[in-house]
Amino acid sequence: MRNLVRETKLSAHDFVLPVFVSEKIDKRRQIESMPGVFQFSLKEVAGEAQRAQDSGLQAILLFGIPAKKDEQASGAYATDGVVQKALRAIKKKCPELVVITDVCLCEYMSHGHCGVTRVDGDHFQVLNDETIDLLVKTALSHARAGADMVAPSDMMDGRIGAIREAFDANGFQQTGIISYAAKFASAFYGPFREAAESPPKFGDRRSYQMDCANADEALRETALDIEEGADIVMVKPALPYIDILWRVRERFGKPTAAYHVSGEYAMVKAAVEKGFLDERAAVLEIMTSLKRAGADIIITYWARDLVEWVRD
Ligand code: PBG
Repeated sequence: MRNLVRETKLSAHDFVLPVFVSEKIDKRRQIESMPGVFQFSLKEVAGEAQRAQDSGLQAILLFGIPAKKDEQASGAYATDGVVQKALRAIKKKCPELVVITDVCLCEYMSHGHCGVTRVDGDHFQVLNDETIDLLVKTALSHARAGADMVAPSDMMDGRIGAIREAFDANGFQQTGIISYAAKFASAFYGPFREAAESPPKFGDRRSYQMDCANADEALRETALDIEEGADIVMVKPALPYIDILWRVRERFGKPTAAYHVSGEYAMVKAAVEKGFLDERAAVLEIMTSLKRAGADIIITYWARDLVEWVRD
């Protein structure tokens, strides 16, 4: 009876698993602050994708860690870059799996910022238009290597429109765009920066990520991304921004994704390790809340466990 009248139900298709692939390792390596989450080598990554697909998941979100970084982020758009190589291997092994790629420069820039920077004494600036050129090249190279969707996470102005235009002009009308539309500058990205080896070497990301105090601004940013051609919009992080998630879903009625981020994961894992929380109950409650608040898609490091948990 309880199940019959339950308003919010979770299913395996709600979840997307983030996958990290590193050019620097031969064997998978666990991320210290994220128990159960690994960086995979290029040799292993297609196998990991296969396991995700076999478990019942429909989609993964791919992040790359290059062997070398530079000031042009050239590894981000190289034909034989880490993500491009991983994409080809994954698509060969599991052509049905939806592969989404994170499009950002921070992992590929020697300074760790999400764009081209100009440093001027104590100040630095991220140059919007120069960055967009590189993001477009990156997105196109992912599409060419087989990405089904790209997820620009950089937060530059105008990048969605520029990527959409380049896709249309190059025969990738079918390649989708999930935009990190409402992406807040957040303390909860800490563990990710260990996983992606991308902490900024100077300054922070506050000039291009949003202030957690601003809700209307998030709605304006989202409206712009939709106008520019985003197919799915994302709110990130998830739980601390559940009000934004609700408003975005209500206002725009677009497919909406919530990214339950690394710090949100690490926080629950740490409590579980201490015996303070029941992992399965806590995670199912969090995911149900996100779905109730309007998430059509949830990106989560628990995706694989969740497939099991929602089955029984
Ligand atoms: C940027 C990016 C970040 C995350 C996803 N894409 C980090 C950042 O903006 O600093 C964070 C995801 C997480 O914390 O799980 N390329």
